[in-house]
Amino acid sequence: MKIIVTKDNIEGGTKAFEIIKKGMEDGDKVLGLATGSSPIPLYDDMCDSDLDFSDMTSINLDEYYGLNPDNDQSYHYFMQKHLFDKKPFKHSYIPNGMAKDIDKEVDRYNDIIAANPIDIQILGIGRNGHIAFNEPGTPFGSLTHKVQLTESTIKANSRFFDNEDEVPRQAICMGIKSIMQSKKIVLLAFGESKQDAVKALVEGPVTEEVPASILQDHPDVTVICDEVAAAKLD
Ligand code: F6R
Repeated sequence: MKIIVTKDNIEGGTKAFEIIKKGMEDGDKVLGLATGSSPIPLYDDMCDSDLDFSDMTSINLDEYYGLNPDNDQSYHYFMQKHLFDKKPFKHSYIPNGMAKDIDKEVDRYNDIIAANPIDIQILGIGRNGHIAFNEPGTPFGSLTHKVQLTESTIKANSRFFDNEDEVPRQAICMGIKSIMQSKKIVLLAFGESKQDAVKALVEGPVTEEVPASILQDHPDVTVICDEVAAAKLD
């Protein structure tokens, strides 16, 4: 596991951008993408660059179940706003949060991932060590699945909604096994609230209680964090 400590999230985004740029020069074609605050500086760099993604495929980690793509809290909306409006990809896949049959949607998404092996997966990390919506206790062997969000995640996300009742209770999420099958993984973590998660990810035991800890077993992971998030590392 390679650790890059940066001054702030802007510099962190630039480091991640350089990895994507180099990957594309080497022929990478499929990017796994995350939402949330952590990758925004990276997406800004991608938008401001002269890189062309029109021959690339993107696969997002997750989507709320029950939110229309036009809802400004959906991850579809987030990706359009922060990346795809300015930099369209040839194919962009995000779980369909409005699918009538969620089990069929889960199968469809697993087929998409199997048909498009991910070259570089971008990840954020939750305060409790979650990656995507894979909360503590999620089996390391999981593929795409339906998730019942925990109270702590619902509370953390409620700041983006008018009230807590509006926060979806379910999501569709790429599983840990699929994430681990990506050729390269870049995890972004910034700010004080990520200190414990970063320590557990890098130095803690590999345990399903800290989903991100499995990344210790992946051959090509780069953790990019700012000085504050890295402060508890030995
Ligand atoms: C987003 C996702 C989440 C976030 C994590 C960190 O697609 O899967 O796991 O990466 O909750 O969120 P931020 O970056 O907002 O701190």
